This record gives sequence, C-alpha cells and structure tokens, in this order.
Amino acid sequence: MPFFNPSSRPDGPPIVEIQNLWTIFHSGGSDYVIHKDLNLTIARGQILALVGGSGSGKTTLLRQILGLETPTRGQILVAGQPVAKLGGKGATGRVGMLFQHGALFSAFNVLENIAFALRELKTLPDELIRDAAMVKLQMVGLDAKDAYKMPADLSGGMIKRVALARALVMDPPLLLLDEPTAGLDPEGADGLCALLRSLCQELELTLVMVTHDLDTLHELCSHVAVLADQCVVANGTPEQVMQHPHPFIQHFFLGERGARAMGLLPVTSVSG
Ligand SMILES: Nc1ncnc2c1ncn2[C@@H]1O[C@H](COP(=O)(O)OP(=O)(O)O)[C@@H](O)[C@H]1O
Ligand SMILES: [Mg+2]
Repeated sequence: MPFFNPSSRPDGPPIVEIQNLWTIFHSGGSDYVIHKDLNLTIARGQILALVGGSGSGKTTLLRQILGLETPTRGQILVAGQPVAKLGGKGATGRVGMLFQHGALFSAFNVLENIAFALRELKTLPDELIRDAAMVKLQMVGLDAKDAYKMPADLSGGMIKRVALARALVMDPPLLLLDEPTAGLDPEGADGLCALLRSLCQELELTLVMVTHDLDTLHELCSHVAVLADQCVVANGTPEQVMQHPHPFIQHFFLGERGARAMGLLPVTSVSG
C-alpha cells in the first residue's frame, strides 16, 4: 500500500519520539487495543495537527506524551529522555498542555490559575510568581484587569487563553493542545489561531494539536499526523498527507467540508 513514511526526515532535531507504542485498555473483561505498534517522530519547531476519528486515541496519546498515562508497551522520549523520568504531570516544565475543556480551577482567580505550577514548586517568592503570571497573562492577549476575575465570569475564548497562559507558565518548549478551537465561535477560533502563530514565532515553540477544524489546520499547521487503524498511517506536510489514499484521509480532507476549507467550493448559501 502506498504510504507516507512516518519517519521521513524531520526538519529539526526530534523533540518527541514515540517508539513501538501499544495501548491496551481492559474493560468489562475484554481488551481494547487503542494503539498498535505506533511510531511517530516530531521535529522541533513543527506545528503538528494530530487528526483521527473519535475514539482513535488522540487524547490518550497526548496524555502519554505529558506523562499522565503510561503506554502498555513501547516508549516515548521527550527531548531525548523517557517521559517516565520527567516526573509525571510535565512537572519539570518541558511539556505544557491545554486540556480540551480548559480545566481551570473554579475556586482560583485567573492569576492564581496561571501561577499554579510555579506556586507548586514552593521555591519562589510570591512577588516573583505574581509578576511571572502577569507576564503570561499579557502574553496571551488578556488585560491586567482580568487577573482577579473568577473562571465563572470568563467567556469561552478567555478561558482558553487563561488555560494557555497556565500551560506556558514554565516556559515549556513543547505545547500539547487538545481541540483548542472546539466550542469557540469562528471569531474566537481565528483569534486563538493568530495568538498561537505569534507565540510560536516569539517563543520557538513546538505545537502538537488535536484538531478536527480544517480551517485551523490549513492556517496554522506545518505538519499533519493521521491516527487510523491504531497507528500513524500518514505523517507529513498537509499537501503530502492529503495525497494519501487511506479512506479516512480522503474523507477528512477531500470531503465537501475539506474542499470548502481549502477554498475549492463556495460557502453554502441557505436555500429554502
Ligand atoms: N482510562 C481508560 N480506560 C479505558 N478506556 C479508555 C481510557 N481512556 C480512554 N479510553 C478509551 O480509549 C479510546 C480512545 O480514547 P481517546 O484517546 O479519548 O480518543 P480520542 O481523543 O481520539 O477521541 C476510547 O474508546 C476511550 O473510551
Ligand atoms: Mg479526545
């Protein structure tokens, strides 16, 4: 079968190397194989879209890269070191994660949410923590006057920005994002994409982003990895991956929705 080689030479040195990874969940007396001998190398500086059907194991893979879950077999290296040694929770600050639903602490204000990981270190003076969190707040396009708001008082777009600031507070070189634009209106999604692009340029971040949003993918992502049949069936630039004959890929990119996102079809008019 024609195949885009998932290990085709990346541009920079690898920041994530996933090697022969298996994930098997046990439930109701049965085994479910989610990842089957999955391999993926992500080069520094890439903005990678991780796409795949619902339940294909995208979120699980991000959680494994972060160190919150351990694969059944195989290994994941981040910056050349096995994830297990990073001490879970990305606590060394190598990996930041924007969780799917923002996942802010509802009892903490914006600034306390952003500062959380720094405070957990228990080594820095309060003033320094506050200043560092304030810098991140402004970096994600929020105003100093938002610092003392509670999560319940924020719009969906602001929650994403606070969660992003919190993920960046330790200055990680690698940021994982789980469906960052899901639930945002088109304007909010465009704003978040523009912010992510400028952060990537300023901070030399590598992004790994689960997304179903073809506009985001085409606008932002340098590379795409496709999860199907329990492994990575294609990995390359969007233009390369779109050529792959796998039915999921053809449907995802070249179905009507995909063609519209690429400007090949007019936006549907409302007809009666
Ligand atoms: N801790 C778990 N125990 C059992 N099954 C799980 C667990 N986590 C995820 N799963 C199952 O693994 C599959 C992949 O889940 P997930 O990674 O969330 O998929 P995706 O993000 O691609 O939609 C789903 O069928 C899900 O129900
Ligand atoms: Mg998911």
